Amino acid sequence: MRKAEPRLQRKLLAWLLGPLLLLLVLDTAAAYWVSQRFANLAYDRALHEIAREIVLHARPGEAGRPRLEMSEATANVLLTDAQDRLFFRVDAPDGGLLGGDPSLPRARLAPGRGADPRFYEDSVRDERVRMVAAWMPINEAAGAPMVQVQVAETLNKRKRLALEMLASVVVPQLLLILLATAVVWIGVSRGLQPLQRLRHAVSDRSHLDLSPIDTHDVPGEVRPLVDEVNELMARLGKTFDFQNRFVADAAHQLKTPVSGLKAQIELALRESDPERVRHSLAQLYISADRLSRLVRQLLSLARNEPGALDTVQLQPLDLNAFALEVGMDWVPHAIKRSIDLGFEGVEHPLMIAADRDRLRELINNLVDNAIRYSPPGGRVTVRASDTGDGHARLAISDDGPSIPVEERQRIFERFHRLLGTQEDGSGLGLAIVSEIATLHEARIELEEDVDGVGNTFSVLFRLRHA
Ligand SMILES: Nc1ncnc2c1ncn2[C@@H]1O[C@H](COP(=O)(O)OP(=O)(O)OP(=O)(O)O)[C@@H](O)[C@H]1O
Ligand SMILES: [Mg+2]
Repeated sequence: MRKAEPRLQRKLLAWLLGPLLLLLVLDTAAAYWVSQRFANLAYDRALHEIAREIVLHARPGEAGRPRLEMSEATANVLLTDAQDRLFFRVDAPDGGLLGGDPSLPRARLAPGRGADPRFYEDSVRDERVRMVAAWMPINEAAGAPMVQVQVAETLNKRKRLALEMLASVVVPQLLLILLATAVVWIGVSRGLQPLQRLRHAVSDRSHLDLSPIDTHDVPGEVRPLVDEVNELMARLGKTFDFQNRFVADAAHQLKTPVSGLKAQIELALRESDPERVRHSLAQLYISADRLSRLVRQLLSLARNEPGALDTVQLQPLDLNAFALEVGMDWVPHAIKRSIDLGFEGVEHPLMIAADRDRLRELINNLVDNAIRYSPPGGRVTVRASDTGDGHARLAISDDGPSIPVEERQRIFERFHRLLGTQEDGSGLGLAIVSEIATLHEARIELEEDVDGVGNTFSVLFRLRHA
């Protein structure tokens, strides 16, 4: 069996970690941008300062063209840095290079007094640099000539500062996410432990154990599911009990007639007189017939059990006509037993929804009982009527001795028969009748008798109007 639990755990983690990591990526991008800005802010000022220093070495020259007087030593002091290389150039307003590095791309700023310096990125000999460019007067005097000063610096310390700033923001966040992952992992594992225990509680039990699963430790979300499973097990348990009892009862009921049959056969085998053998065979036939009826009743009981696999086919049926039709089949048998079998119906059809075969079986069992338990000369009536409140009643009455009040419930139980009954039977007929009535959502009752005479079994069906 595949474990369901880690999948849930992984899913939860993915849902939590996915958005967190996405957030981290966005955050890193933002932090990188911000840290680069701050690194530039800090170092740009120094770059501008160097530009100012350089201008201090410019002098007014001949014909109004300034000169740059800066010794190599001075330039070295100004332009030396531990991490970066620096370049500069100074240009006259007419575009002539006054000093510095000619390979530095010349800025094309409009000359202007008091304008802000420009900072931007450029490249010098294939190397990226940060540049400051500005027009500056060579001294404080009014009307002093202007020069364009540019200082450029490679990006090493800026990059390093930006990276350091970035690391100081991102690393703690990454650690936080790792910690959150660990905590969530542990939390989810512990949270899912009851489910794991539940799984063991189910997988460890024997297939015969249908007792309810203990719910006291089960998380609220799963409880309805467990309750449903328990409910199902309770129903299964009832069905199992029922089946077990039925099989035991059936085996018990079949044992007696089968041993009777064997004894009769042994007896017949010892006979030599053909006449007596014939007699034994006739007896055997009667016993086999009884046995086969018992088996039929047992099968019918199993077939009509509520929830049985055999599906019920309820179709429109006229109870009035059908009761007469089934009742007629019993006339020859009734005559043989000197019973006056009558039928009373109504003028119009009584439409109900019924399964023909099962309804026939129900009527057969009730009529069979009425004839079987009435003394010769009795009257049995099959009656179909409209109750007036939306029901059709089928009643089978006899005028034999009434069933004692205390037995009226129990005769519907399986194998229950009245004490001292002389007639053949196994006590299954009324149990079958009651099952069939249930399948038709019909109510069966044994009506009150008058002065201890007669029995009326009536079944109430809901009327269906065509
Ligand atoms: N109309 C009746 N008059 C008197 N007693 C009856 C009547 N119907 C049923 N009984 C009593 O109820 C008992 C149960 O009836 P049920 O039809 O369930 O079983 P059975 O007739 O004994 O056997 P079978 O399974 O062959 O029908 C009968 O044994 C009988 O004692
Ligand atoms: Mg019967």
